[in-house]
Amino acid sequence: MSVPLFDTSTPLAPLRARLNAKAVEVLDGGHYILGPEVSGFEREFADYLGAGHAIGVANGTDALTLALRALGVGPGDEVVVPSFTFYASAEAVPPTGARPVFCDIDPESFCVTPETVRAALTPRTKAVIVVHLFGNVAPVAEIEALGVPVVEDAAQAAGSIAADGRHAGALGTIATFSFFPSKNLGAFGDGGAVTTSDDALAERVRMLRFHGSRDKETFELVGHNSRLDALQAALLRVTLPYLDVWSDGRRAAAAAYEEAGLGELAELPQPTPGAQPAWHLYVVRHPDADELAAALSAAEIGNKAYYRVPAHRQPAMQAYADGADLPVTDELARTHLAIPMSPVLSREQVEEVVGAAGAVAANRMR
Ligand SMILES: Cc1ncc(COP(=O)(O)O)c(C=O)c1O
Repeated sequence: MSVPLFDTSTPLAPLRARLNAKAVEVLDGGHYILGPEVSGFEREFADYLGAGHAIGVANGTDALTLALRALGVGPGDEVVVPSFTFYASAEAVPPTGARPVFCDIDPESFCVTPETVRAALTPRTKAVIVVHLFGNVAPVAEIEALGVPVVEDAAQAAGSIAADGRHAGALGTIATFSFFPSKNLGAFGDGGAVTTSDDALAERVRMLRFHGSRDKETFELVGHNSRLDALQAALLRVTLPYLDVWSDGRRAAAAAYEEAGLGELAELPQPTPGAQPAWHLYVVRHPDADELAAALSAAEIGNKAYYRVPAHRQPAMQAYADGADLPVTDELARTHLAIPMSPVLSREQVEEVVGAAGAVAANRMR
């Protein structure tokens, strides 16, 4: 039985007729950028998260740049960011004029900690990007207690819940999401959002996404053209009510991996204490990750090493990576491997994955 790395189509199948009807309604309606579908989605997404505002933007990378600019990040500033993340978390910093400063992570949660962030702070630090990696929940309050505003990069964490019951994306000063189609809450093209409970920051992000203007006549800032399409917002309004069910499915799949004994064969990701991650990716660690990958591929089981070359080792980041010493990042880059995860991963599929992973362990013992 082949098992895909992720499955976006099965969860959407029961919604297909409603999605199709909604798409036709938007096409016939003639309003394609911002407008009532976008403001409706913004209200519903903010309410879902328990945040004051959600502002729809073109993608999750722009969301980060706009959030940083709204915080006043600019030339001469530094922004602390993990390196073990999708490259865009760091790439979003230089367009503000600031420098990314890379920090290390915790080996079990994959997230930054107050200690790893503190080691990267300087008097020029203006903000910290905290990535809720793979859907795990980073310790936002503890990092904001260091005295710098936190931008939560929640691109991979829609549906994740922190130990105190609040949603990832409503824990810090400002947060960002990606609605890239394979994400926990995926659109049908690019899309993103900035969320915050600070009225002034929300107003600034609204201006920045629309050329720095409040009224389309006076341009107060050099802004961006970064708006969410009405079509994407309308379709996200259909799927948002299912996010919690899908997140429960992801958590159930993680529990099934544990019950099937995967922890005997590889190091499993550990939720930060008390958190309920909506695992976007299920990433294990193995001393011979390439051998595990080969065994899974041979059994037609999807797998992927997402960040073999972490951000601080990418060519475009060399101007910012001088002196970065990130031993945990380098170790995880070598040993991590994503294995199948979706809201509908069945027990049989889990057992298939664990069986194939077990063959690697058996081979090693020979
Ligand atoms: C952690 C993280 N940050 C930022 C992004 C950027 O989002 P987008 O692809 O929508 O620009 C992504 C996803 O692609 C991501 O996984």
